[in-house]
Amino acid sequence: MQIYLDTANLNEIREAASWGILSGVTTNPSLIAKEKGGDFRGIITEIASLVDGPISAETIALDADGMVAEGREYAQWHPNVIVKVPSTPAGLQAVARLAAEGIRTNVTLCFNATQALFAARAGAFIISPFVGRVDDTGIDGMSLIREIVQIYRLHHLKTLVLSASIRHPRHIIESALAGADIATCPFGVIRQSMKHPLTDSGIERFLADWKARQ
Ligand code: G3P
Repeated sequence: MQIYLDTANLNEIREAASWGILSGVTTNPSLIAKEKGGDFRGIITEIASLVDGPISAETIALDADGMVAEGREYAQWHPNVIVKVPSTPAGLQAVARLAAEGIRTNVTLCFNATQALFAARAGAFIISPFVGRVDDTGIDGMSLIREIVQIYRLHHLKTLVLSASIRHPRHIIESALAGADIATCPFGVIRQSMKHPLTDSGIERFLADWKARQ
């Protein structure tokens, strides 16, 4: 399973990329809005210069013509740009039209397996089920990942399953176990995942023993 960063923050991207674990980046309008400096295009092209992998940029239009127009524009910014569209009928239409032009899409805000099946049929490159937001409704978000992975495997669908709305390290582990192709994670969850009190106390103990030997 590949690890993407779910952020538009360049410092977080630089840091995670320096750990050698980053295969791509996802953004959304809320994440872009949090970054005060730079326009949308500038932020996306800067991210593309830091990470050699798919970079998702989300459309704002709600109609298929608008999504296709924005998608065509984004795709010109950098070859790694993936056009993100919502799980709506207009989104499906945009996916099919953009796919016919060779433009890759990420279908976002996916909350059930039929949305994922239809996105794959329309020609999506990535499907993004929102695990954390499903959990928030009191339903097990990870079961959505398991259903989609099973459906895609049974029916030989090539669309990549990306676990989105990741809230804690356990979501990353369970996404990997469920067979997701990608987990996109906030930087805080990535950092938290590498933190363990036994790692810290183990380092302290090794260093103390080493000094005592001198
Ligand atoms: O980028 C889409 C998704 O990962 C958003 O997550 O935490 O806002 O539900 P969240």
